[in-house]
Amino acid sequence: MNVNKKNPRFHRVRLLLAEVLLNDTLPPLRRLRALLSARGILLVTAALVAVTVYLSGADATVTAILFGLCAIAILMQRQPEAALAQKPASQDGDPPPADLLRPTVYATLGALELPVVVFRKDATVLFQNRAMDKAFGPLAEGSHLSARWRSPSILDVIRETIATDEPNQIEHSERLPSERVYVVRIAPVDLPVGMPTGDKLYIMSFKDISELRRIDRMRSDFVANASHELRTPLASLKGFIETMQGPARTDVKAQERFLAIMLDQANRMSRLVDDLLSLSRLELKAHLAPNEMVDLVPVIGHVRDSLAPLAAELGIELRLHLPPSRVEVMGDRDELVQVFENLMENACKYGQEGKVVDVHVRNEPGHAVEVSVVDHGPGIPAEHVPRLTERFYRVSVADSRSKKGTGLGLAIVKHILTRHRARLIVKSEIGKGTDFTVRF
Ligand SMILES: Nc1ncnc2c1ncn2[C@@H]1O[C@H](COP(=O)(O)OP(=O)(O)OP(=O)(O)O)[C@@H](O)[C@H]1O
Ligand SMILES: [Mg+2]
Repeated sequence: MNVNKKNPRFHRVRLLLAEVLLNDTLPPLRRLRALLSARGILLVTAALVAVTVYLSGADATVTAILFGLCAIAILMQRQPEAALAQKPASQDGDPPPADLLRPTVYATLGALELPVVVFRKDATVLFQNRAMDKAFGPLAEGSHLSARWRSPSILDVIRETIATDEPNQIEHSERLPSERVYVVRIAPVDLPVGMPTGDKLYIMSFKDISELRRIDRMRSDFVANASHELRTPLASLKGFIETMQGPARTDVKAQERFLAIMLDQANRMSRLVDDLLSLSRLELKAHLAPNEMVDLVPVIGHVRDSLAPLAAELGIELRLHLPPSRVEVMGDRDELVQVFENLMENACKYGQEGKVVDVHVRNEPGHAVEVSVVDHGPGIPAEHVPRLTERFYRVSVADSRSKKGTGLGLAIVKHILTRHRARLIVKSEIGKGTDFTVRF
């Protein structure tokens, strides 16, 4: 190895020989020429030594034998060269051939899911992968990074990395075409020792953390909403208890009234906790599809019966439109009861003005089984429809609270339907009513 470094000519000859002996893909003429030129140099050197030895007075026969032995040794020098050439670059200290390395590195970066751009010391692009093309659009080789990223914070970090040769990262958000948040990392590329580097290179990658951020926000919204929903009835309970201990200590009539309200609030809290537990249980088994056959006709009948008192109280007629035969789907009976209870209860509570709620069960050959719960109430403004299944989302919080709603019903419905591989389709027209259809 050291010989290579100290004697570059000798090293060139060794490499040339190695290439010739190992590379079967060389054209025969080139192979022969290279072979002759590599071995030729050694043979000429041996001949010159032999002549010098002869001229300095040695016996001609001995000199000829010595030269012959050298020539044979040179011509048979195949194995050691081959072994040398086959050694991996890292062990030998020699870099892999640059023409092989570059396409391999580009192809590897190209296959990465992470958007990546490799740039030079003057911040011009050398290469960017397909993920980068897709996320930020193509950027031609040689163009300056500022042609694509104008954000001063990104440009500052690029400058800093080039100046200090230390990796850096920042958070960066893009508004268009959609709001996304990235962790941008910029680092110098440490090329293997001995590579013909030319310019120093740097790599910039974009890790998309938008989804993580969204989940974080949802989690904190959820905790805030849940505690807010519990705090309201708790505060009211506390207020009544204090009143009963103080000013209303002896007022039995007032106490009776307060106790009724307190029971109402306690029931509300208990409903909320039940709904939250139900949601978390559903989340735990979201990936397990139910495996019982359930006939939907008796399920809908059962829900209608359980909601009859509420419907009567609200002055609603619940009309069922059922096919004559069984309508079976794969499902969990109790969960399906929960789905239709919430949909029919919502139709009664929020579509009260329409006076009638129609429930259609459809099982037509060649079509998916569908159950539609249709009210003829005020309808839901279009901007609210996509958000109805979010936890605690209510079109009107005051209206829902006054109807003892917690805003978790449709979130539970969505979770159950996801587990059942079914869909919820909502169609609503202002002034005409709303149609919630479950398609299995
Ligand atoms: N048929 C409907 N007509 C009009 N608005 C509706 C209808 N169904 C649901 N909504 C609106 O969607 C919101 C969310 O419904 P969801 O069932 O999730 O909660 P909720 O009924 O308020 O409470 P919960 O079901 O937990 O008792 C309701 O607050 C209401 O504003
Ligand atoms: Mg509801």
